[in-house]
Amino acid sequence: MKRGKTKAEPAPPATLFLFGAHGDLVKRLLMPAVYNLARDGLLDPNLHIVGVDHNEVGDAEFAQRLRAFILDQARAKQPDQVLDEASVIDPAVWGPLAERISYVTGDFTSDDTYQAIARTLQANGTGNAVFYLATSPRFFTEVALRLNRAGLLTEHANGFRRVVVEKPFGSDLASAEALNHQLLELMSERQIYRIDHYLGKETVQNILVNRFSNGIFEAFWNNHYIDHVQITAAEAVGVETRGNFYDQIGALRDMVPNHLFQLLAMVAMEPPAAFGADAVRSEKAKVVGAIRPWTPEEALANSVRAQYVASSEGTKGYREEDRVDPDSETETYVALKVMIDNWRWMGVPFYLRTGKRLTVRDTQIAICFKPAPYAQFRDTSVDDIKPNFLNIQIQPDEGMWFDLQAKRPGPALVIDNVKLGFAYKDFFQMQPSTGYETLLYDCFIGDQTLFQRADNIENGWRAVQPFLDAWKEQRASLAQYSAGSDGPTEADELLTRDGRAWHTLG
Ligand code: BG6
Repeated sequence: MKRGKTKAEPAPPATLFLFGAHGDLVKRLLMPAVYNLARDGLLDPNLHIVGVDHNEVGDAEFAQRLRAFILDQARAKQPDQVLDEASVIDPAVWGPLAERISYVTGDFTSDDTYQAIARTLQANGTGNAVFYLATSPRFFTEVALRLNRAGLLTEHANGFRRVVVEKPFGSDLASAEALNHQLLELMSERQIYRIDHYLGKETVQNILVNRFSNGIFEAFWNNHYIDHVQITAAEAVGVETRGNFYDQIGALRDMVPNHLFQLLAMVAMEPPAAFGADAVRSEKAKVVGAIRPWTPEEALANSVRAQYVASSEGTKGYREEDRVDPDSETETYVALKVMIDNWRWMGVPFYLRTGKRLTVRDTQIAICFKPAPYAQFRDTSVDDIKPNFLNIQIQPDEGMWFDLQAKRPGPALVIDNVKLGFAYKDFFQMQPSTGYETLLYDCFIGDQTLFQRADNIENGWRAVQPFLDAWKEQRASLAQYSAGSDGPTEADELLTRDGRAWHTLG
């Protein structure tokens, strides 16, 4: 996927400004990722980290807090082990990193904050700066505007200036277009790094390597052999502490135009002419742009929205969650059918589903092949012959498997299911990672391949807009599913009416 490098060099010197330094993202993902990059020798000894937020905190105290975040995260991930500090944070890695951590107290809406940032940047002795907007989306334009006003977005020979924008990037097509427009008035596309953390996942990046570095796949990767594709992102967790945010957003906006469409694009895009950022992103934009815009009636018929209700085992329903409206009509589950109008995929449905509080955490792509044309086995009912699937398991237990039919040993001809494939952990040593390591590193080295270009974002919203509109205008019904189940029966019907069934979860 990446530029053909086999060994990564340390990133160039730079200052990483973390806007929203006390937020959840910095705690859970960014700081552990920075530490992992330092551990792997991928950061320059002159990489500075500067927290920016309104709380009054000194440099040393901020560094202490970051250290505590890393420790907490590592312990939270392995709750059954007693992890002593030294096994999580190597003093030889942390010591030099901590010396380069500082903090700017300031309001994002005050020009004084940006003057302080400019002074810090100058003092750090490198002109390169990455401004990471780990803030509420309402600050994205505000921060960019003030950075620009302070001259901080102007690049020069010894200084790149890059802005990382987190999701959600807009809440529909119009707001995403407006945000793109505002940002592009202040800086060039080359300076904007729109994050979709699914692209930081090894298994997601591997889809392209598998498809395009193995000659065998291309021969059957089309509508002659593939019957349909299922993309699932099931979560076992509920809305956790994000009830307030999630209740305004819902499952469709939270997961589909970004994460699920990234997976769809990886599976469905044409081979890029080169592995450069623009070639890859152009192919992705094309395929997401080729998703058929449904009429309002079709959008309703091809979507299911649902909300989890309390389970008989006592798990709370969505409306009982903290900071959620007790009459909320927000969906926590969505299932969709989309069609891609191009030569390769004409007639192949893509079924997408994602939801919270399902049985298991399971992100997978299941590619279902057309059946063998004729089953010649005497006395073997055709019903026993299951379709072949290629399962790309994104998380957990990363790997890839074909479901095949084989003869069970013995005198009787009994057809059974077997698996042919590989698990990542059997071949590679997996270091603990958050998925943000690659994205941060790529931002430092200036590789935008794994970031969303303006048209990628807009095409994603364009494809979900018919669902958003139809749901609103036609008051789409809200189905229910029990917390801890596989989802609503209405989602099963979306496939059974086409003579198909969802691949089992877990
Ligand atoms: C985030 C969504 O973007 O992705 C969350 O806002 C969701 O609601 C998360 O839980 C899922 O990410 P992952 O990496 O756990 O699949």
